[in-house]
Amino acid sequence: MDRNELHERLLGAPGTVMLLGSIDAGKTTFAVDLARKATERGIPAALVDADIGQSTVGPPGTVGLKFCSGMEDLGPETLSEADALGFVGALSPKGHVTALVNATAKLIARAREAGCRLVVVDTTGLVTGTLGQLLKFYKIEASAPDAIVAFKRGGELEPVLGIAQRFSPAEVYEVTAAPEEDALSPVERVGNREGRFAAYFSHGTSRWRVKPTVFMPTLPPDFELGRLEGLVVGMEDGKGNCVGIGILEHDEGEDILRMISPVSEGVRGLRLGSVRIDLEGRSKGQITLRDLFQSE
Ligand SMILES: Nc1ncnc2c1ncn2[C@@H]1O[C@H](COP(=O)(O)OP(=O)(O)OP(=O)(O)O)[C@@H](O)[C@H]1O
Ligand SMILES: [Mg+2]
Repeated sequence: MDRNELHERLLGAPGTVMLLGSIDAGKTTFAVDLARKATERGIPAALVDADIGQSTVGPPGTVGLKFCSGMEDLGPETLSEADALGFVGALSPKGHVTALVNATAKLIARAREAGCRLVVVDTTGLVTGTLGQLLKFYKIEASAPDAIVAFKRGGELEPVLGIAQRFSPAEVYEVTAAPEEDALSPVERVGNREGRFAAYFSHGTSRWRVKPTVFMPTLPPDFELGRLEGLVVGMEDGKGNCVGIGILEHDEGEDILRMISPVSEGVRGLRLGSVRIDLEGRSKGQITLRDLFQSE
């Protein structure tokens, strides 16, 4: 189906629309265009950006919710400022399916509760293999979309769409993916991600000391705090909301941890992520918490 025709169809019966397709398929462009058209027509709309690698709303490693109250919310600068966040702490879904699915479902529910009639859900490009199928199945199960838009290139979406058709009442629409020559190179994708992290941490960050008892999961006894250096953490308010992300810094002299973040208030607990970065957003490597803690 033609994109404009599909936009009209979706705007005619607004609901939760989940976009599925591999990387560079045109998901985000479609999502923002649809949200823009809804906003122009006065349909209360929101974007839920569940692409934790190539984020549009909120920093990488998070799911972001953006309410589309006016056209000014959808400019490239304002779009990146989330109205609510869900922490995942990783740049790809492997090993983080539960966190990603929960955060996505939670923010969709938040948008619906706020009265948004159209909720557009952008997703990661992981659509193939057992992991891609399980991830999309769980996302569909937890989010109960009314419509699924598939951005098809070859046959890569067949298994996921088969699952969607067999296990969900959502209407499935197919469009042709964006031309491959428009695809970003891996270096450009990394550059974009670093830029998004760097932009997030460029807004007046401060440093403050954190107690080693505030983490989820809890640090094992006698854990060397230095091993948390550079780790991304999700800052939670104790009511189930992520208020921002931070980077941990280890002070070797005093053997204490500090956190660097643009958010400084309303934090009750810190969720440990699985990626280390510096303030310029450059990745310093990925970890698994099980390896870090040497536990099951
Ligand atoms: N309908 C279209 N026709 C032509 N080019 C398009 C179309 N939609 C998107 N593009 C281009 O294709 C590229 C990828 O688009 P977009 O970022 O929307 O895809 P995506 O699926 O969100 O990718 P990502 O995996 O990076 O999240 C961009 O350069 C965009 O300008
Ligand atoms: Mg995208």
